[in-house]
Amino acid sequence: MRSVPVINVVATCAFLIAAISLGEAWGGPRSAPVDFTKISPTDLVHRTPKGGLQNPYKDTQADIVAQGETLFRSHPCSGCHGGGAGGGMCPPLTKSDWIYGGDDDTLFRLVTLGSDQLQKNGYTRMGFAPVVGPMPPMGPLIENSDDLWKILAFIRSRYDDDPAYKYGAPASQQ
Ligand code: HEC
Repeated sequence: MRSVPVINVVATCAFLIAAISLGEAWGGPRSAPVDFTKISPTDLVHRTPKGGLQNPYKDTQADIVAQGETLFRSHPCSGCHGGGAGGGMCPPLTKSDWIYGGDDDTLFRLVTLGSDQLQKNGYTRMGFAPVVGPMPPMGPLIENSDDLWKILAFIRSRYDDDPAYKYGAPASQQ
């Protein structure tokens, strides 16, 4: 009988320690700036709440765009979307009819997870782009999140449609 309270104390301590270390694991890295070169696209997607992903690069940074272009061409992207991202057997990435949305967060998640998983996460097709087929998940093939942000900066730099739709439908139309 006397051992019961001891077990309770031990259990309570274990619980508190677990709760404190979990709190550190969750609270710590989020408040510190993320080093995109050290986190895979898949991990970044899973730890960032919907809407929270934003490209640290601008498509006016010529050196970043050049690196993004090399990465785009060294991954399977160009085989489907064409070397200049203007479309091949799959949709162009330079036009205003974004399939799930044109913002950084949606594009990062689509490329990482692929279109089937994106839809399971609650994203729906919009726009009038014809259905060609699913986009496969590319996250596991891209070394780190920094590389994917550079690829997306390159894609933005190739945009050649109505400027109002560069990042998706303007707020007034959503
Ligand atoms: C096997 C072919 C294939 C490969 C490889 C591929 N994609 Fe795609 N991609 C697609 C298809 C198909 C769609 C349209 C998906 C849909 O309609 O659900 C798409 C959609 C997209 C879109 C959204 C376009 C829009 O108008 O909304 C982006 C951005 C994109 N891909 C980027 C990439 C990048 C970057 C890579 C390489 C890391 C890549 N894709 C590799 C087939 C591919």
